[in-house]
Amino acid sequence: VERVTIPVLQRWKEEGRRIAMTTAYDAVTARIADPIVDIILVGDSVGNVCLGFDNTLPVSMAMMNHHLEAVARTRPRALLVADMPFLSFHLSPEETIRNAGGFLQRGADAVKLEGGAKRIEMVRALVDCEIPVMGHLGLTPQSVNVMGGFKVQGRKADDALRLLDDAHRLQEAGCFALVLEGIPAELAARATESLRIPTIGIGAGPGCSGQVLVFHDVLGLTEGHRPKFVRAYANGFQLLQEALSRWAADVRNGAFPTSQESYRLPEGLRDTVAN
Ligand code: KIV
Ligand code: NA
Repeated sequence: VERVTIPVLQRWKEEGRRIAMTTAYDAVTARIADPIVDIILVGDSVGNVCLGFDNTLPVSMAMMNHHLEAVARTRPRALLVADMPFLSFHLSPEETIRNAGGFLQRGADAVKLEGGAKRIEMVRALVDCEIPVMGHLGLTPQSVNVMGGFKVQGRKADDALRLLDDAHRLQEAGCFALVLEGIPAELAARATESLRIPTIGIGAGPGCSGQVLVFHDVLGLTEGHRPKFVRAYANGFQLLQEALSRWAADVRNGAFPTSQESYRLPEGLRDTVAN
């Protein structure tokens, strides 16, 4: 199978072929997603989706490495992107390079990091070390405390213009693609038209070069509030619970396991054990 690479994604942007990206956090989710999507992201959303945190701020490099290694062992054909967690790309270029380089040594093809103008120095440092970088603008979840919640961004004139400027600065710094999250559709479409590199939208309307949703959101595996940009294609939570409860009922009523689902002693030993 042909692997998805950064030049392939660039060609698809130029041809107007839309890009599908989702997250994976372990070998199971990676194996399900890999034959279907173009890009697999080991997102720091692992914190809220899998680890029970309220937001992504507690996610560490150790946690990301653990999940990335599980995904990378499946050797995906999709482009494998690893998300840089809070504080892993803020302190110095050296620490940023070491963290991102560690992701590549663990099998990632590229890294993603949140932020615009303030992070340009770090993006440049990574690109200078041959580490491909995907940018991420708009509703950046690591900025939750500054934003005062998970709120749509770029709705005021100055915010919208700053986002377009950030997008171009990230492109000039060498990003190969940008995630645009939680911004008005018109703004995302404008950014997509004016950039050379592909944009991947989430809550950013249909005018992007591709779309990303969290794996568990697409499959209906997440409980509670569902933002309006999420479309669930399965009621996974209920589907899996129904199957599990049939099994548990069979355990309780003795219908599981049958003799076909059991191992037997060799013929000659059966009497010995029965006594
Ligand atoms: O962590 C994540 O899952 C993400 C995507 C939703 C873009 O950053
Ligand atoms: Na993320």
